[in-house]
Amino acid sequence: MTAFAGLRPWLQPELSGTGRLPMSTLRHDDPARRIELDGRWRFQLLRSPDAAAGADWAEIDVPGLWTMAGFDDQPHYTNVQMPFPGFPPEVPDDNPTGVYERDVEIPASWAGRRVVLHVGAAESVLIVSVDGVEIGVSKDSHLAAEFDVSAVAAPGPHVLTVRVVKWSDASYIEDQDQWWHGGITRSVFLYATGPVYLADVRATAGLADDLRTGTLALDVDVATAEGRTPPGYVVEATVPGAPEPLRASPAPTERPGWPTGGPDRELLDRHILGGPLSAPEIASDWPVLDRLLEPPAEGRVSWRIEVPDVRAWSSELPELYPVLVVLRDPSGAEVDRAELQIGFRRVETRGLDLLINGRRVLIRGVNRHDFDPLTGRVISRESMRADLVVMKQFGFNAVRTSHYPNDPAFLELTDELGLYVIDEADIESHAFQSTLCDDPRYLGQWVARVSRMVERDRNHPSVIAWSLGNESGSGANHEAAAAWVRRADPSRPLHYEGAIRFDWTSDQAVSDLTCPMYPSLDSIVAHARSGKQRHPVILCEYSHAMGNSNGTLADYWDAIESTPGLQGGFIWEFWDHGLVQKLPDGTERWAYGGDYGDEPNDGNFVLDGMVWPDRRPKPAMFEHRQLAGPVRLIGSDHGHVTVENRQDWRDLSWLRAEWELTADGERVAGGQLPLPDVEPGGTATVAIPGWRGANPDDGEVLLTVVTRTAADEPWANAGHEVGWGQVVIREAPRGLARSESAAPAPVDDAGRLVHPWLAASPELSLWRAATDNDRIGGMADAWEQRGLDALSRKVTSIDRDGSVANVAMEHAARDGSVIRHDREVIATDEGFTVRERIAVPDDLTDLARVGVVIETIPGFEDATWSGRGPHESYPDRKRGARLGRWTSTVTDLATGYVRPQEQGGRADVRWLELRDGAGRRLRFDFDRPLQVSATHFRAADLATATHDVELVPRPETIVHLDVAHRGLGTASCGPDTLPQYLVGPGTYEWSWSLSASDAG
Ligand code: GAL
Repeated sequence: MTAFAGLRPWLQPELSGTGRLPMSTLRHDDPARRIELDGRWRFQLLRSPDAAAGADWAEIDVPGLWTMAGFDDQPHYTNVQMPFPGFPPEVPDDNPTGVYERDVEIPASWAGRRVVLHVGAAESVLIVSVDGVEIGVSKDSHLAAEFDVSAVAAPGPHVLTVRVVKWSDASYIEDQDQWWHGGITRSVFLYATGPVYLADVRATAGLADDLRTGTLALDVDVATAEGRTPPGYVVEATVPGAPEPLRASPAPTERPGWPTGGPDRELLDRHILGGPLSAPEIASDWPVLDRLLEPPAEGRVSWRIEVPDVRAWSSELPELYPVLVVLRDPSGAEVDRAELQIGFRRVETRGLDLLINGRRVLIRGVNRHDFDPLTGRVISRESMRADLVVMKQFGFNAVRTSHYPNDPAFLELTDELGLYVIDEADIESHAFQSTLCDDPRYLGQWVARVSRMVERDRNHPSVIAWSLGNESGSGANHEAAAAWVRRADPSRPLHYEGAIRFDWTSDQAVSDLTCPMYPSLDSIVAHARSGKQRHPVILCEYSHAMGNSNGTLADYWDAIESTPGLQGGFIWEFWDHGLVQKLPDGTERWAYGGDYGDEPNDGNFVLDGMVWPDRRPKPAMFEHRQLAGPVRLIGSDHGHVTVENRQDWRDLSWLRAEWELTADGERVAGGQLPLPDVEPGGTATVAIPGWRGANPDDGEVLLTVVTRTAADEPWANAGHEVGWGQVVIREAPRGLARSESAAPAPVDDAGRLVHPWLAASPELSLWRAATDNDRIGGMADAWEQRGLDALSRKVTSIDRDGSVANVAMEHAARDGSVIRHDREVIATDEGFTVRERIAVPDDLTDLARVGVVIETIPGFEDATWSGRGPHESYPDRKRGARLGRWTSTVTDLATGYVRPQEQGGRADVRWLELRDGAGRRLRFDFDRPLQVSATHFRAADLATATHDVELVPRPETIVHLDVAHRGLGTASCGPDTLPQYLVGPGTYEWSWSLSASDAG
């Protein structure tokens, strides 16, 4: 029990921290002045912050979460709801509290120096002591706390104790949609400075109106324990464009005395003593008054410089310039230094546009949480880099640090690799969003969280906007925080969704962007055309990537690119947060809410990312990459192609392209395509070398151009595919060749289609295993209530005439709906041809699919198809899958969504061939492109599998041939698919054939 424990800081919303040093931009990463404290620490997990530590110590990694280290407290997942009942600031009695302890040796060389303890991040309350003496408290689970421990850390051995309390008043404003954990998530270290030291370096780099001249405002704060900086110290700054370092002394200048007479005194008398003031007078006199009244900042050195002809920083060309700041003592010796990388760039909102370096840049963003499947959210610099590299490889140019500030290393990497960042404060009061934002007890935490983030991250060129947090309503606390930022950093716009949630049209103080989440396409387009738009529209979240999702992404982008005022958005989200969980039988799985016995929980809603928990891209990533590609093929004619440079600043010299001409999937010609020298935004037409003669007469003829990196980029090796374009030179002939044979139609007395290699008769299918969108959007319930998952089949007539049979059927659903199905079967030499006619009645307004499902006998494992590929595609998510001839095993055609659901589809398939190991071949041809899947799972298997009911692949191959298939949409959070991707009533007619051959 301790003094701070008496204060019970975990129940004090008014308290954001005590004993902490002010936040600064400085990193203190010089190894010579720093003692790393990461590694194994002694550890105890108490059940309450009021409990006293015992004598038994375990060990734990720092940084590390005890919830991921086998202690008696497990991860817990909730979205909006709090994981425990109660009202702010109450917390449960069972309040896991980690006591971390370790020995520290302060070296003799640090005698007389100022010693600072840095704790990178701890959730949710941090209480620090040295040798039992309490030093300070900090809240905000995603920002560092620094404490001056000089008074208790003389050279010699010490014991450092860090208590981390899991539940606190602050939990109510850290109610983000993610796992709850407990522990220390970022590095801990000590650093030393001299008694006079650099306290902060602020470098605001911009571009002048000519967009070529760099501007730099450099403010260096020198501080000392003594209060005033002693004379003789000099700050030296090596900055771009200056041949010699700039030098200035931070020694304090006295405040100019109150003038005893003259015009200045007159002015003061008039304004300060005399009044009343008139507005025009204030406006004209203010600069002088300002000078007379403003005391010089103690210890501050400021420069304002211009650098001609800079290379501006942008996501495409992230040009960085080094700045070195050195503090010298009166003898000229270096006593402190700070090295930073700055980027000259300009961000502004003008009218309805967000301009970066004067250009309206489309924001192709993604939301990212800190996540690691093994450590929870303890992540290395390499891991952060790997995330950002994947983003760059898939065409993203922006990231929102949802929903808290990331490790400072993250912003170094976004500066270096080139990604625009919306930097978000650690505030989400979702469960109490209408109250806490106006609760004055929380006011200080609101402002502290926002201001400390700004103070830390302001030097990073990649940060283009400050976000006041997420889903916390809209209240006075936001206005206070916004006011603070507007004064402290006028160089960047503010972002806050809560401020605009119910009103997109008013001018308001808190957000400079209209940044809604999950708006429908219609609503944003209507807004942009309404004449009432006041701010750039950038969606803070859209296209919810839960399970098999991101339907209509291309439609969003078509609208964004063609509608002034719409400027992009951030997909929700990067990661599927599946934690690696070891089960008693030794197997592992990706756990989601409830898998740790965590109650209440929000299930698999935590699995909504564009990458799997091991960072492999999901199919939706390819859709994004294609939409974001730097080059667009916009046409081809007579051996020429026209390409558009879709970038903002770069030319095409960093790319190379290849062309290929195929006829029915066979390559008939191809080679390199020299890319033209074309300005950003421009188009050019180039001749395809070697095109002459490459003009096949038969079949479907396609020209494909694939664009790749020509040389290594910081985020991709040479040869990385950045996009492709395809032009249909000649349409595929439609229809099926009829090759009737003399054999009888393969239809049995029950009207079933029979073939020795089919395990069952091909049947009508109107249903699919619910995607997360189908389930959460309510469609799956409706389908099941109607009984579309289990149609009963009745044959009303069978008509045979030699090789032709006509079977009339009725399929009845549980709700009484009847679907008429007429089938004509014609025997062919190699199998049969089927003409299907399905009459969907008017009341079946929303079906998952109209098609047939076919089950082969076991063994058909190798698939080849002509259609979109190679990865999964659906009618409203197929722009990123190109037409071609593809091969795969049936096993690999599956997309292993963590929670099983409809998966593995391929759009616009012309034909499919399956082979077994013995050389047997089953080929399916169609009279038009179909949506096809071939898997080892029946829809019912996918629908019923859960974490408790294992999904076991069947040896058979289950093939769906759909003449219509519902789009995916994003209804798990946001709009459903668009009307044009729905499957409704009407008559569906199509033909397909099966040909079997045996080469074995
Ligand atoms: C948003 C929220 C995110 C996440 C998402 C759904 O409302 O800001 O944190 O919960 O919905 O996955």
